[in-house]
Amino acid sequence: MGSASSAQKPKGANKDKKYRIAVMPGDGTGPEVIAEGIKILKAVAASEGLSFEWIPYDLGGERYKKTGEILPGSALAELRKVDAIYLGAIGHPDVKPGILEKGLLLQLRFELDQYINLRPVKLYPNVDSPLKNKGPQDIDFVVVRENTGGIYTGMGGASMVGTKDEVATQLMVYTRPVVERCIRYAYEFTRKRNRKKQLTLVHKNNVLTHCGDLWVRTHKEVGDKDYKDIKQDYNHVDACTMWMVKNPEFYDVIVTENLFGDIITDLGAMIQGGMGIAAGGNINPEGVSMFEPIGGSAPKYTGKNVINPLAAVCAGGMMLETLGEEKAGKRVEDAVFKLLSSGKMKSL
Ligand code: IPM
Ligand code: MN
Repeated sequence: MGSASSAQKPKGANKDKKYRIAVMPGDGTGPEVIAEGIKILKAVAASEGLSFEWIPYDLGGERYKKTGEILPGSALAELRKVDAIYLGAIGHPDVKPGILEKGLLLQLRFELDQYINLRPVKLYPNVDSPLKNKGPQDIDFVVVRENTGGIYTGMGGASMVGTKDEVATQLMVYTRPVVERCIRYAYEFTRKRNRKKQLTLVHKNNVLTHCGDLWVRTHKEVGDKDYKDIKQDYNHVDACTMWMVKNPEFYDVIVTENLFGDIITDLGAMIQGGMGIAAGGNINPEGVSMFEPIGGSAPKYTGKNVINPLAAVCAGGMMLETLGEEKAGKRVEDAVFKLLSSGKMKSL
């Protein structure tokens, strides 16, 4: 976990419009969807006057199996210097769960201090949502998930493992600076999005009285002081899962802690039509961010060419926006919208 203030300057578009992108296709269907995403990014680059240098990294399950390496220090040092990372998927059927997820994906989030996980929940035209009677006008909100703190810090421990009295703890750890930088990002994002101008904090402060209280007070204090134009709202996380299904149109921007964000964004992906369309950004607003389709490596489908690449394409669009190339990013998003509106690509 880092601090709220950073000596680094916020990233903006490069003057020369040249970007060095680390490409990490990863495992399973990651490489095939990233290949499609790169085609789109190349096309938009050509028409928007951008240029990309693609720097490939073969990190993932296969490399781990061959060499035992997950995230070598030399690769991490290089990744600190790129403009962004474009990631396919991490997760290999022959590697015990947790090793690659923790050693690579979470490690990159922590090391590069990507403290925001930005996950839009948007239903595109002609995409089937399992929600009856809900259309694109009803499902269009964004979850700002805190991405480096909470239970994901791994603090805690176990003792007497394997005995009848075994004890295990896993702590939800938050500091004021870590909460505040996330809440501030979410307020800024809500203002910029300029829709309902409503920021819903999702937590469980009726039970998690310490962490919940820290989030609730920070949300209120920061909002009262610096974001009077944004409406403050609060939902318990269990109620939020209910409203996401019953009245998704209610939401504009949700901000939440790490584990709650993990869970509600899978629900979000489902109501927007599934993992084939859901994209996410692991963002360090002052540093190196990483963009990924959130569907995972889907090993069963590898090489069959059946996985929808639109999530990877949308992740590429988010990458452009975060790099400061908002027009180019918007063009990717518009292209996805047009393609789906045309009905040429119906089921996902
Ligand atoms: C996600 C994933 C990861 C997480 C796993 C793979 C560690 O579920 O990006 O949502 O829990 O954050
Ligand atoms: Mn998840």
